[in-house]
Amino acid sequence: MQAIALAGFGGPEVLQLTTCPDPVAGPGQVLIRVAASGVNRPDVVQRQGHYPAPPGESELPGLEVAGEIVAGDAEAMQQAGLAIGDQVCALVAGGGYAQFCVAPAVQCLPVPAGLSLVEAASLPETFYTVWSNLYDRAGLQPGETLLVQGGSSGIGVTAIQLAKARGSRIIVTAGSDAKCQACLDLGADHAINYKTQDFVEEVRAITGGKGVDVVLDMVAGDYVAREVKCLAEDGRIVIIAVQGGTRSEFHAGLVLTRRLSIMGSTLRKQPVAFKAAIAQQLRAQVWPLIENGSIKPVIHAVFPAAEAAQAHALMESNQHIGKIVLSW
Ligand SMILES: NC(=O)c1ccc[n+]([C@@H]2O[C@H](COP(=O)([O-])OP(=O)(O)OC[C@H]3O[C@@H](n4cnc5c(N)ncnc54)[C@H](OP(=O)(O)O)[C@@H]3O)[C@@H](O)[C@H]2O)c1
Repeated sequence: MQAIALAGFGGPEVLQLTTCPDPVAGPGQVLIRVAASGVNRPDVVQRQGHYPAPPGESELPGLEVAGEIVAGDAEAMQQAGLAIGDQVCALVAGGGYAQFCVAPAVQCLPVPAGLSLVEAASLPETFYTVWSNLYDRAGLQPGETLLVQGGSSGIGVTAIQLAKARGSRIIVTAGSDAKCQACLDLGADHAINYKTQDFVEEVRAITGGKGVDVVLDMVAGDYVAREVKCLAEDGRIVIIAVQGGTRSEFHAGLVLTRRLSIMGSTLRKQPVAFKAAIAQQLRAQVWPLIENGSIKPVIHAVFPAAEAAQAHALMESNQHIGKIVLSW
């Protein structure tokens, strides 16, 4: 098969089209003929040499695919309600940038009715991540207010639409007025251009001094101290990336007097059973919202897979809004 491999660690040019053996589905797995592969920021971090594949997983980049099941563990497929020929999208721990990819059967979800395979490929990584962090971890409730840092990211556009559809009020930050407008168009109630406005002051003004209930944070570093100041009583910060650095110094007194929680998680290395539980929630509670049009994939650009380097260069330019996808 053809695949995009890392010829080393470095800039986008290390992503190279190569030929390698087809993977073989093991116990519990299916083999997918890939039509499209989603691009995620963790792929960029892996390419730079800072996010290795978990032990036993493919060294090829790529955390999500959509395509057709062409082989697999018959018993696992039956238990998951899958069959040869089904069109699915799947979360994988690596190996997504390839014409064929193996995935645990329990991490496959049907292509939502009405969506193309390119659109379906843009879903798994951000929906699994956002569901797990906003609902399973931070316990975001209808009526609560959510602050999404990086609202125009692939993660951000998912968080805005999901939280909106489930009845939360949403404030986002983004790095340009155009990105702020795109977030408002997707359903955010307020957007803060963090390059021209102080998000702490803005959140206080928007919430009448109460603060937000949950912060979805992909920056960390010195943002944590400022987010602590943005939280309402019983507020929660959930950290999913450390783009602003790993060191944070914050007002611990506020954490106790206001009963705050600071948590975080990373999805890729979690066991299959953990991801299967998220998949069941997505299928029951989120796929219907996609199929009735309440939530739409937001695709900024589609590249032929051979142009994966250009796709990464676009992501690193931070010009995109939503997702970037590779097509095979
Ligand atoms: N923990 C997990 O399991 C997990 C899973 C998937 C992704 N992630 C992480 O989630 C993040 C988003 O991933 P993605 O694939 O959606 O990437 P992406 O589309 O490339 O988004 C990255 C975003 O970070 C924003 N950003 C950077 N510095 C910022 C700052 N100081 N304040 C506010 N926003 C800032 C950028 O927005 P501006 O241009 O507006 O600055 C950009 O929208 C990445 O850091 C990724 O590593 C974590």
